[in-house]
Amino acid sequence: MTRTVYLNGAYLPEAEAKVSIFDRGFLMADGVYEVTSVLDGKLIDFGGHCVRLARSLSELEMQNPHSDAEWLAIHRELVAVNAIEDGMVYLQVTRGNPGDRDFAYPSDDVTPTVVLFTQAKPGLADNPAAKVGIKVISIPDIRWGRRDIKTVQLLYPSMGKMAAKKAGVDDSWFVEDGVVTEGTSNNAYIVKGNKIITRQLSSDILHGITRAAVLRFAVEAQMEVEERAFSIDEAQAADEAFITSASAFVMPVVEIDGAAVGAGKPGHVVARLREIYLDEMRKAAV
Ligand code: PDD
Repeated sequence: MTRTVYLNGAYLPEAEAKVSIFDRGFLMADGVYEVTSVLDGKLIDFGGHCVRLARSLSELEMQNPHSDAEWLAIHRELVAVNAIEDGMVYLQVTRGNPGDRDFAYPSDDVTPTVVLFTQAKPGLADNPAAKVGIKVISIPDIRWGRRDIKTVQLLYPSMGKMAAKKAGVDDSWFVEDGVVTEGTSNNAYIVKGNKIITRQLSSDILHGITRAAVLRFAVEAQMEVEERAFSIDEAQAADEAFITSASAFVMPVVEIDGAAVGAGKPGHVVARLREIYLDEMRKAAV
């Protein structure tokens, strides 16, 4: 079965969805994106992704081409026609095709390019990695200064994933001024006793939708939350560590730069947070 994707108002077989070579997403990475997970055919934390999309667009002076209700309808249609039980919907809006290459933004009459597609990931919530945990290395964070905008300029995160792969581990954590900013495609946390520590929000990191939900659930579960930066040394000496993202949910980190975290296997705080997160988000899915 060929996948049906969405391009500028049309639902098309993926091979028929074509975008101009002059599109600024292609030439300038001038675009933003969102990834929403699907569990049991329903969208996880959809409202949060809509809010962040609107903010990313507005920070780049781009019009939001759809209302939240329209975005929801498109997401639901793609999930239905592609029969997605577990997986994700990828959404991208670029500034469109001004007809030629130019650094300056084109005038407002250039319509944005809107692309959405699904990815099936059967058993997404039962990812075996959650049982054993992942290993990370640290690398310098040399990304630009507006990491709070979810842009499609993902080359350095890709290089970070490749550095991890070459080192025989699962992912990289970015370090700047001696402290961790975030993972290549996720937010980073450590656990000390009953306390969850994660970097405070600023333009240094992406404001994770999963992060917001997990911190809320942690407080509700009587855990303490401290929003501050931590170093690799502190993380290696922590009781537990983890990452969050829309696709990994809550994922234990058991090794950092070759040093085991805690007992070197997933701890009970992270396991509990993952369970609460999945339970609550399934209940609220749309
Ligand atoms: N990545 N930090 C970065 C740099 C990210 O790219 C992501 C998400 C996150 C977590 O945000 P959220 O909880 O809203 O997914 C943090 C997505 C999943 C991706 O690029 O595939």
